[in-house]
Amino acid sequence: KEVKLWGGRFEESVTETVEKFTESISFDKALYKHDIMGSRAHASMLARQIERRIVNGDFVWRTDREDVHMNIEAALTDLVGEAAKKLHTARSRNDQVCTDLRLWCRDAVDSILSRIKHLQVALVKLALKNEGLIVPGYTHLQRAQPVLLQHLLLAYVEQLDRDAGRLLNCRERMNFCPLGACALAGTGLPIDRFMTSDALGFTAPMRNSIDAVSDRDFVLELLSANSITAIHLSRLGEEWVLWASEEFGFLTPSDSVSTGSSIMPQKKNPDPMELVRGKSARVVGDLVSLLVLCKGLPHAYNRDLQEDKEPVFDSVKTILGMLEVSAEFAQNITFNWERIQKALPAGYLDATTLADYLVKKGMPFRTSHDIVGRSVALCVSSNCQLQELSLDKLRSISPVFDEDVYEFLGVENSVNKFSSYGSTGSECVSAQLNYWVTNLGIN
Ligand code: ARG
Repeated sequence: KEVKLWGGRFEESVTETVEKFTESISFDKALYKHDIMGSRAHASMLARQIERRIVNGDFVWRTDREDVHMNIEAALTDLVGEAAKKLHTARSRNDQVCTDLRLWCRDAVDSILSRIKHLQVALVKLALKNEGLIVPGYTHLQRAQPVLLQHLLLAYVEQLDRDAGRLLNCRERMNFCPLGACALAGTGLPIDRFMTSDALGFTAPMRNSIDAVSDRDFVLELLSANSITAIHLSRLGEEWVLWASEEFGFLTPSDSVSTGSSIMPQKKNPDPMELVRGKSARVVGDLVSLLVLCKGLPHAYNRDLQEDKEPVFDSVKTILGMLEVSAEFAQNITFNWERIQKALPAGYLDATTLADYLVKKGMPFRTSHDIVGRSVALCVSSNCQLQELSLDKLRSISPVFDEDVYEFLGVENSVNKFSSYGSTGSECVSAQLNYWVTNLGIN
């Protein structure tokens, strides 16, 4: 006869009469579902206690227990004894670690997505604050054509949108469950991989156990996406650092996002955006580390893969910081309208619009390019702007020029001539702006 669960202090077992008289199993088995429910809740409460100890800093991480998996399992054994030793049934650290990492990366993607959106909102709000401001557009960092500042800011919003798209896309592919792949070959024990996959919010268990434990392409995708985002942010940083210089003077960061020099008392530096530019290097470095790590690994799991963690953690932490500080910078800069407007007449930003004017009159573009080129040369030699050339002077270069030419000259006229889809004309830009205001739920 089996010893009663409470039988420790007793020397004799109960009589059959007493057993029959006291039992309830004949009717309370009706409660089996609810009993299991209760036990499940109780067990997860016990697990939560270990989690609390970790969160509160009361958990002692032991080096002799090697890694997070064995530290937690051993702590559970300390807490509940023998039963905990069954936890690792049909499980290996090989499938455990990549399950953990997939879950971690999934959370990371969600945090990065929300920071991307936050930065997009900051950029759109900055655009809303600066309606109508025309800035020089550059190619080769030389004056090219006039554009609305809003147009430039929205270019970044578009880039960030694709960054978010890449993250969503890799999130979808990463969301498959390795658990149950065990060391590499699966298991003969009766497990249900679909159930654990479901419980963890994965789309499905991974189809191939060898693939499940050996590939880190999901991390590579995340780090690639982060690298591209980092490069976008670095370009934004570079642009704003440049624009904050005395030479440009197009924007002023508030004191709250600037730092000073330990030797030069007058200095006010745009350090946050310089560091955004600088930190993009780490994010790219993290990707490269992981690419090189994975190169040449035979299937299936190899201990080298343990080296994947630090680059992932670093990349995610860094990109989150870069996004956050960029948004804060955007909330704390002023574009210097006066200075920008004073700078606009230089550089013949309206020259291409003038060439288009001649095209509208029926001239082939190559010819109009040449004529406007000669008009610019005339301006350069007489130190004036295109709109300051008299009609007579213009006609001396080409008789096609007419009174209406002046409606095409000057940056304002020039900007307003742009009308192709996606161009910098004010109607096209307000369509873009409306799209983002609605899309991002800005009110
Ligand atoms: N700490 C290891 C890692 O991060 C866990 C897996 C170790 N597996 C093994 N059989 N040694 O990859």
